[in-house]
Amino acid sequence: MTLIQLNDECKLCRKCGLGETRTNLVFGAGVENAQVMFIGEGPGETEDLQGEPFVGRGGQLLDTMLKIINLSRQKNIYITNIVKCRPPKNRDPLGTERDACIGWLKTQIDLVSPKIIVCLGRIAAITLIKDDFKISKEHGQVFEKDGVYYMALYHPAALLRDPSRRPSTFEDLKSLQELIMSVCPETYGK
Ligand code: URA
Repeated sequence: MTLIQLNDECKLCRKCGLGETRTNLVFGAGVENAQVMFIGEGPGETEDLQGEPFVGRGGQLLDTMLKIINLSRQKNIYITNIVKCRPPKNRDPLGTERDACIGWLKTQIDLVSPKIIVCLGRIAAITLIKDDFKISKEHGQVFEKDGVYYMALYHPAALLRDPSRRPSTFEDLKSLQELIMSVCPETYGK
């Protein structure tokens, strides 16, 4: 199984209603064997139209954040979402939709096989780290599960809404950079 094959299968998925209302599947983008994987919540309008994750305003901010610590989807990370189809009107994906989609993400994680998973926002963190994750208290902390390290950052959309969270996100990015240097320095070509 390759990511391309999984993408093709995922296009046919109708396990929840979102497959009927989306324009494009937004499967994932970036380096296929990246050691660092970023996982958001679900596609927004721009992503739905382009079929690429994080290409709207939040995506532009994400790219700027990544650049601060020498990461980019072209060079050394893979990016995807908890749900692969846009929830109408950008509402949060429902628990039933997350449950329906999680199998695709699990296989995608197995194929990319990252050493570090960065959850962007609360929805990704409650799905992948723990169901009572408190983003305002636990962002930037490192969790370890089955040999994989997890960290959650504020979602870029939250940083656009509330710029007062940006300084702590800058600190979190520095911690992430240190984690990468100790766990998988190859990410930086070292
Ligand atoms: N927000 C997300 O969580 N994911 C995207 O791909 C775009 C916006």
